Amino acid sequence: MKRIGILTAGGDTPAMNATIQGAVVRANQLKVEIFGLIKGFNCLFNPRAPHVHLNPLYQEIPEIDPTKGGTMIGSSRDFVDPDKKAELDMVASRLKKLGIEGLICVGGDGTLNGLQPLAERLPTVLAPKTIDNDLGMNYPSEPGEWVRVKDSDARTGYRYEHRDSQAVFDLEYVVNYVTPGYATAVFVSAGGVERIRTTAESHRRIAIIEVMGRHSGYIALGSAYGRPDIILLPEHPLDLEHLVERVKHLYDLQKNVVIVCGEGIVDEQGRELGAETKTTDPAGNIALSGAAEALRHKFIQMIGDRYFQLYRRGNSAREAIFTRKVGHTQRGGRPILFDRFYAAQLGAKAVELLLEGQNNAVAILQYSSAKGFYVQGYDANRFRDRWGYIHARRMHPSLYDPKLMKPSRVGIDYLLPIFTDAIGDDDMEHIRRTLFAQGNLAQPYHSINTDINKRIRYLEEEEPAAI
Ligand code: F6P
Repeated sequence: MKRIGILTAGGDTPAMNATIQGAVVRANQLKVEIFGLIKGFNCLFNPRAPHVHLNPLYQEIPEIDPTKGGTMIGSSRDFVDPDKKAELDMVASRLKKLGIEGLICVGGDGTLNGLQPLAERLPTVLAPKTIDNDLGMNYPSEPGEWVRVKDSDARTGYRYEHRDSQAVFDLEYVVNYVTPGYATAVFVSAGGVERIRTTAESHRRIAIIEVMGRHSGYIALGSAYGRPDIILLPEHPLDLEHLVERVKHLYDLQKNVVIVCGEGIVDEQGRELGAETKTTDPAGNIALSGAAEALRHKFIQMIGDRYFQLYRRGNSAREAIFTRKVGHTQRGGRPILFDRFYAAQLGAKAVELLLEGQNNAVAILQYSSAKGFYVQGYDANRFRDRWGYIHARRMHPSLYDPKLMKPSRVGIDYLLPIFTDAIGDDDMEHIRRTLFAQGNLAQPYHSINTDINKRIRYLEEEEPAAI
């Protein structure tokens, strides 16, 4: 292979540029040209296929910076639809015109689904990214536990249900233990939780902090490092009576309560609290927002004003209970050391997989207590259920203690290898040196997009079809 392409798809993460850099460094060593495709699959739906040569003369361009969040080549939620054969042919023919012989997609479970039909046209591999940490499997046999049920309300006419597991859960069998992006998202969320605590303490308030993750509770679980009193996860339906009892107990004791909830939490009937007004993004994912606010309304009704007035800790439940979203701050900014380091390794591994002649493969990050973290290639077909669909990983129930509403012992054991040394000295030094730098006040922000724009090249316009 002489030339490969790389694109970044789906929601950005802080570690995508580190993945790009890892891929470019390895491509330089192997004397392979690497083109960055602008704005994910959107590049290939555009007849001009905007792209950037990332390593002219096998040297990385100076804009590549693994410590910068987001993605220098842009991302979008566009995806290739396996049922649209003509669209697939067009995408493949544009890649061919660019001289691209193999493609690396930096993406999550949605991208991996989209990559399947493309891999029938040219060698394609996935380098994982997601802050949600939902790309992977709890154990290799998990895809076989999904069943498909007809459902006229579902977009595809079917919904999938996860049957009870036949496997013993063991951290050493997790496929793709953790994905770059997750550690930085937890770093931001846990920091946010710590900060909210002192204001909740001072003003005798109950804080509900919503974190991202869609239907996966990993970010909420990791925010345990910020020491909230209660963590609520999408994988465990709410037990409102138990929850309110626990909130009151804590409030009586310490006059403040800090609760973290995943944006995808569900009630006893399995209905998402944050999806009362259902909207979807272009890839068909339900846009979740408002779980914390919905929970606050339930608390206001169930706890009531009298409870707060009785102890003179506020005039009303409305005043005493407040919500905050960590929001997109958990997805942006500088990646912490853990993410940078492993993102780069996964990018490099993706290049190696292509050059070894692998197709439809995923570079994954594995963990074992004997070896620590290591990267390896994994056949994407093994992620698919019997209908060919790749599901987002749900956090295994054993990582959480629903009574304590905190990580279980297994959950703590899961988090420790990721986070114990996740922050580098340079991460702290970076804040010290740059946040209050004089130039921040005097000079405007210089966007990477301006520099990349100057490097973008285009395919020549396609000839209009003869009539
Ligand atoms: O998948 C990543 C993610 O950040 C989710 O956690 C969140 O639900 C979603 O993307 C938000 O998407 P958008 O940035 O398009 O609002």
